[in-house]
Amino acid sequence: MNTPGTLPELDVHLTEADADAALREDARRGLTSTPKVLRPQWLYDARGSELFEEITAQPEYYPFAAEREALTIGADEIARLSGADTFVELGSGSSTKSTLLLDALSRTGTLRHYVPVDVSAAALEEAVPGLVANYPDLAVHGVVGDFIADLRSVPKVGRRLVVLLGGTVGNFEPDDRRRFLAALADTLDEGEHFLVGTDLVKDEETLVAAYDDAAGVTATFELNALTVLNRVLGADFDVDGFSYVAAWVPQASRIEMRLRARRDMTVSVPALDLIVEFAEGEEMRTEISTKFTREGIAGELDAAGFDVAHWLTDPAGRFGLTLARRR
Ligand code: SAH
Ligand code: AVI
Repeated sequence: MNTPGTLPELDVHLTEADADAALREDARRGLTSTPKVLRPQWLYDARGSELFEEITAQPEYYPFAAEREALTIGADEIARLSGADTFVELGSGSSTKSTLLLDALSRTGTLRHYVPVDVSAAALEEAVPGLVANYPDLAVHGVVGDFIADLRSVPKVGRRLVVLLGGTVGNFEPDDRRRFLAALADTLDEGEHFLVGTDLVKDEETLVAAYDDAAGVTATFELNALTVLNRVLGADFDVDGFSYVAAWVPQASRIEMRLRARRDMTVSVPALDLIVEFAEGEEMRTEISTKFTREGIAGELDAAGFDVAHWLTDPAGRFGLTLARRR
């Protein structure tokens, strides 16, 4: 389905109205739970997608460069092993690193389709025209969709390689991750592949700095969640009333991104007919970023129905890529 104003190469499975309705449901659940929590996909409005691109340019945010290094080393082997003619990328954002795989898959001569899927229409509208121009032999078909709620965005065409880069698999809660991996395995046929990028456990100082950069870009990105709630739900969050905290939680092997109330506040959320109280010092979680080990991600993939076909990291061993094959 195309909606007016979108590119012909873009299918909209999630309209703005659907996204707003889903945000309303999430916000109702998250703002009334203890502790308060929001889902990360709502961070990526047009401004949020821009801010994420700025994060990737911060010197402390090593995952982007580390994954790019790993892809530079491994793309040809991944392309060869997958033998894919359809490359489906979940959470593709700007598709910057994807070109390494697109080039490698093009060299094998099998690739026919590239399907970038993202909840952010703005990110796809920005990325797709350049991809269409740069890969004239490829059918590029973007999908605006939520890969958690709706894996129909993975088309049933050709021999598929589904890719989830950026460590985005680390943004799931463990139960949601288990369900997502199982649903993905269900969607794929035997012999098809899934490539997943995972940030790896390392010292706390490096991890916290990556999520609390000196220029304050990550703080602005996480605080943008409040601006989204104000715009979509008519809420009256005072963005300056919150500070940003990145905390390493070793028991859960994850960084938690939180907004801390600087003072007692009462926030009204008209679209939900809801009044929300914040006590001074109270923290609301906007995102989690789980850090993995090689064995940890291999075990989760195995439990979901995948065999590990290939594993590699960047030379410094900061970030892992696992190519998994559907059993
Ligand atoms: N893959 C890129 C971007 C990572 S940022 C990279 O590695 O640099 C995460 C991306 O996933 C964002 O573009 C965001 O809009 C998208 N995203 C997050 N949750 C999503 C969901 N549930 N469904 C679809 N896209 C999602
Ligand atoms: C996309 N995602 C996996 C990023 C991460 O590293 O967890 C999002 C991010 N949030 C703040 N900085 C980066």
